[in-house]
Amino acid sequence: MCGIAGYVGKDIVLPILIGALERLEYRGYDSAGVALIEDKKLIVEKRKGKIRELVKSLWGRNYGAKIGIGHTRWATHGKPTNENAHPHTDEKREFAVVHNGIIENYLELKEELLKEGVKFRSDTDTEVIAHLIARNYKGDLLEAVLDTVKKLKGAFAFAVITVHEPNRVVGVKNGSPLIVGIGEGENFLASDIPAILPYTKRIIVLDDGEIADITPQSVNVYNFNGEPISKDVMITPWDLVSAEKGGFKHFMLKEIYEQPKAVNDTIKGFLSTEDTIPFKLKDFRRVVIIACGTSYHAGLVGKYWIESFTGVPTEVVYASEFKYADIPISDKDLVIGISQSGETIDTKFALQFAKEKGAFTVGLVNVVGSAIDRESDFALYTHAGPEIGVAATKTFTAQLTVLYALAVRESGDRDNLIRLLEKVPSLMEITLNSSEEVEKVSDKYLKRKNFLYLGRYLNYPIALEGALKLKEISYIHAEGYPAGEMKHGPIALIDENMPTVLVAPQDRVYEKMLSNLEEILARKGTVVSVGLKGDKVLKEKSADFMEIPKVDEPITPFITVVPLQLFAYFIASKLGLDVDQPRNLAKTVTVE
Ligand code: F6R
Repeated sequence: MCGIAGYVGKDIVLPILIGALERLEYRGYDSAGVALIEDKKLIVEKRKGKIRELVKSLWGRNYGAKIGIGHTRWATHGKPTNENAHPHTDEKREFAVVHNGIIENYLELKEELLKEGVKFRSDTDTEVIAHLIARNYKGDLLEAVLDTVKKLKGAFAFAVITVHEPNRVVGVKNGSPLIVGIGEGENFLASDIPAILPYTKRIIVLDDGEIADITPQSVNVYNFNGEPISKDVMITPWDLVSAEKGGFKHFMLKEIYEQPKAVNDTIKGFLSTEDTIPFKLKDFRRVVIIACGTSYHAGLVGKYWIESFTGVPTEVVYASEFKYADIPISDKDLVIGISQSGETIDTKFALQFAKEKGAFTVGLVNVVGSAIDRESDFALYTHAGPEIGVAATKTFTAQLTVLYALAVRESGDRDNLIRLLEKVPSLMEITLNSSEEVEKVSDKYLKRKNFLYLGRYLNYPIALEGALKLKEISYIHAEGYPAGEMKHGPIALIDENMPTVLVAPQDRVYEKMLSNLEEILARKGTVVSVGLKGDKVLKEKSADFMEIPKVDEPITPFITVVPLQLFAYFIASKLGLDVDQPRNLAKTVTVE
C-alpha cells in the first residue's frame, strides 16, 4: 500500500531514491515519483505506471541534489494519473510530501482549504498535508509538521521536505509503517527495510505517534507533542542478496526455491527460542487464529494441527470479519494473528480488538519490528527473509513451520514430530527438482478460463492456497473447495472445459479423494493431480500428475503446496504476465 522513501546526506540522491523505490515497488505500482531539492528549488517528477516509466522520464537529467523523497503508489483516493501520483506540493511548490495510508478527514480539511482559496491539483487525500504544512510553516519544518498532524485523522505515514531547509527530511508514522535507516553522514526514511539495505543495516523502527527529524548528521525522534523520545537502534538480519532476484526471472520463483532454507531457518529459530514461549495452548479454552489471504490458509492448516496435537478447540477467522462478528472473546482465549508483513491493518485491528477483550495475543510475523510484532503480547517469527513477490510463497511454508512446531510442542510425541518437520527442507528440495515436470503440465492449461481445486483435511487449505496463487498472478478464475463439498454444488460446473486440480497424497482421506476423482471423470472432467511418487492409480486416472516424494501425513501440506505454487507461476509467466506485481494488488494491505 504505497512505498515511501527519503534521503538526506553526502551522495547524489536520485539513484538512491530510484533504487529504494524499486525495492519498495511490491507495495504498490500504479504510479511513482520523486521530489528533490537542488539550489533551493524543488524538482518534482512523477509518472503514472511503474517505476520504469519514471526512470524513462528522468533519463539524461543529471541532478546533483543530495536530499529527496520518493513514492510508489497503490491508489486509494484518485485514479492512477500523473496528477494524482506523489509527491504532492503546496501551491508555491516549496513543500513536497509523499504519503502512505489514508487521511480519513481529508474532505473536511479540503473544504476548509478551498474556502481559504487554496487551489488543488489532484484528487488525493495527500495534497491537504502539503497545503497544511505550508500554511503552518513559520521557519521550522518540525513545528509545522507537529501543528499539521494534530489535524489529521486516519492511519498514515508521510515524509516531507522543504526548500526552506534543504538539509532536513521529516517523517511521520501513525498507523502505516516507517523506519529510519542510520548511515554515516547520511540518513534514510523508508516504508520497509529492503529499501535501504544497500546502505545500512542499522534501523530505528518508529512507533505510531512518532516523528523522525533527519539531517545528514542527526536523527531525532519526537512524539506528537514535540517531546524527544529515545529509540533503540536495531540491526536487521536481512541482507541485500535476499532482497534481489539473484539470477531468477522473478522474485516469486526465487522465493519458491528459497523454501527449504526458509523452513530450515524457521525451525532453527523456533527451537532456539522455544523455552521462552510464555504460554501453553492447553492453558486456554480455545485458540482463535486471525489472518488474511495466504496467512489465513496457513491458519486453517494450523487449526488441524493444534486440534489434533493438543485437543484445544481452534477457530480460524478472516481478520476483516473478526471485529464485526460479535465473536465472544475473553481472557480464556489465545488469539494468534498471522501476518507475513506484520502490517496488514485488518489483522492489526483484529488483534487490538482481541486484546481489549482480554485475550492473550500472539503475532506470527516475518518482519521483526512490524506493528503486529510490537503490539502483540508475544511474537513468534518466521525466518523467511524478505518476500518481494506479491504472491506469498516462502512465508506461507515458514508460517506452517511455526504453527506445526507450536502444536507438536504440547503433544506426547513432540520429539518424533519435530524430527518429521526436520525432513521438510529436503523433501521440498526433491519436489523442486521436478519443477520441469510441473512446467510441462502447465503448458497444457494456459488457455483454460476456470479451475476447481479440491483437497480434504490438511490439504483442503492447500487447495484454497493453490487456487489463490493461480487467480492472483494469472487472472484465471480458480476456486478452492473441500473435496467432500463438491457434490453439494460445484460438481455442476464440471465438464470437459473445467479442469480440477486434486490434492491427494496417501493420507486418511485418500480413498475419498479417489471417489471424487471418479465422480469428475464420470462427468468428462479433466483431472490434474498432486500425489505421492509411485501412486499408480492417481497417475493412470489423471490427465496430468504432479509427483511429490513420499511424505508422512502430518507434513503433507508443506510439500503438496510446492507444485501448486510452481503451476501458478509457470502459467502466469508463460502468459507473459507480471508475476511479481500482479494488477490491482499490493504486498502489504494497510487499508481496511
Ligand atoms: C497472497 C497474498 C495475500 C496476503 C494477505 C495477508 O499471495 O500475498 O493474500 O497473504 O494480504 O498479508 P500478510 O500476511 O502480510 O498479513
